[in-house]
Amino acid sequence: MRSLIFKDKNKLLPTYIPNSLPHRGKQLNQLKLLFFDSLEKPSEKFLKIAQLIGVTGSGKTCTAILFTKEFEKEALKKKLRIKSVYLNLRLLGTSKVVLYRTMVLKAAPEIFSQNLSALEMLNELINYLKKKKTYLIAVFDEIDYFVNYSREKLVYELTRLSELSPGEPLNFLGEIFIARSKKFHEKLEPAELSTLGRNYIRFQSYNHKQLKDILLLRVNESFKPGVVSEDLVEFISDLCSKPPINGDARAALDLLLYAGTLAEAQGFRKIMPEHVRSVFKEKSYLITTDEILNLPFQEKVVLLSVARALQRKEEPYVPYNKIKEVYKVVCEELKQRKRKEIDEQLQNLADKGLIEIKGLTKIGVSGVETAELNAFLNGLIMKINKVMETVI
Ligand SMILES: Nc1ncnc2c1ncn2[C@@H]1O[C@H](COP(=O)(O)OP(=O)(O)OP(=O)(O)O)[C@@H](O)[C@H]1O
Ligand SMILES: [Mg+2]
Repeated sequence: MRSLIFKDKNKLLPTYIPNSLPHRGKQLNQLKLLFFDSLEKPSEKFLKIAQLIGVTGSGKTCTAILFTKEFEKEALKKKLRIKSVYLNLRLLGTSKVVLYRTMVLKAAPEIFSQNLSALEMLNELINYLKKKKTYLIAVFDEIDYFVNYSREKLVYELTRLSELSPGEPLNFLGEIFIARSKKFHEKLEPAELSTLGRNYIRFQSYNHKQLKDILLLRVNESFKPGVVSEDLVEFISDLCSKPPINGDARAALDLLLYAGTLAEAQGFRKIMPEHVRSVFKEKSYLITTDEILNLPFQEKVVLLSVARALQRKEEPYVPYNKIKEVYKVVCEELKQRKRKEIDEQLQNLADKGLIEIKGLTKIGVSGVETAELNAFLNGLIMKINKVMETVI
């Protein structure tokens, strides 16, 4: 059935990178100033490093990705062979080998081998780039996560690539590290800090006016004309520029997406302030689409099963075996093979703070009052379904 509300819902998801980013022109220019020079006589250039620092939802990831696209375009204009890779260290986990393998798979799949050690792989990549006269720029997103949770010395190696072949320029032209704050520096050794350098590009949280500009642009791309009024955008920007959202653009876009979904479900042709208010006051709103999108598929299925089991019982905790019953039904609906055990998924969801395991057998959601439970679960289920429907 054709939607009366949405033109293209995907344009509201965090996976979509818009072609222009209001209020991030300055940061984009800083990146250009630093890295574009490497494209003049690139074979004589050494590795350059930038650190993007800013709070959640301030546009670090999308700015970095948009920049690498522009960097590629600029390189192509100069008839250079160029590759860019984006790596999210939180999603890849805390193993250096896994990270380097992924980097090689993206930048030079021809030389990928399971048998090489981490350092050998890095060496192979550098040699390959040189041999093929290809240049590389890489984004290491959520470096603070890796540094906090891994014992491996990643920053040391990545920032000292030139020491693999001393005195010679590298075809690895640039590295962009992204973190929420500079706190991760406390865990680095002086030798790492010194090669990481001081090219900081800061991202402040968005204010009311900035959020409004961002939302207006995305509204045009994702909603049918007349569905979202300027007053409504004003209202959302107002809500999201204050605590607890504090200018997080991701949360503002989520609010728009779910208010639209609610309006659609109720047969409206326009989103009303009531729809926004209703989504905003649910606690499940604080679990972002991104968080759910980033869950491995099996964890999404198990989270959906927990939410539906709780909804059925109308209680904040249910026994493990009830969840397994619902899980079976969910797998059948999704035409997925049922797993014998779901303990690992439940534990992972608990580690991420999405569910709570009480005692040995009771599972539920934390911090939600019984009176709010139904609205919370409805919101959560709607979110998981939406993510599954758009991504699968
Ligand atoms: N200036 C902007 N214009 C349009 N959309 C934006 C802008 N800034 C952020 N967004 C959107 O907001 C969402 C969050 O942005 P992004 O993922 O870049 O934030 P982040 O700073 O990397 O956050 P985190 O630290 O949580 O990873 C994305 O969907 C992105 O497309
Ligand atoms: Mg990010």
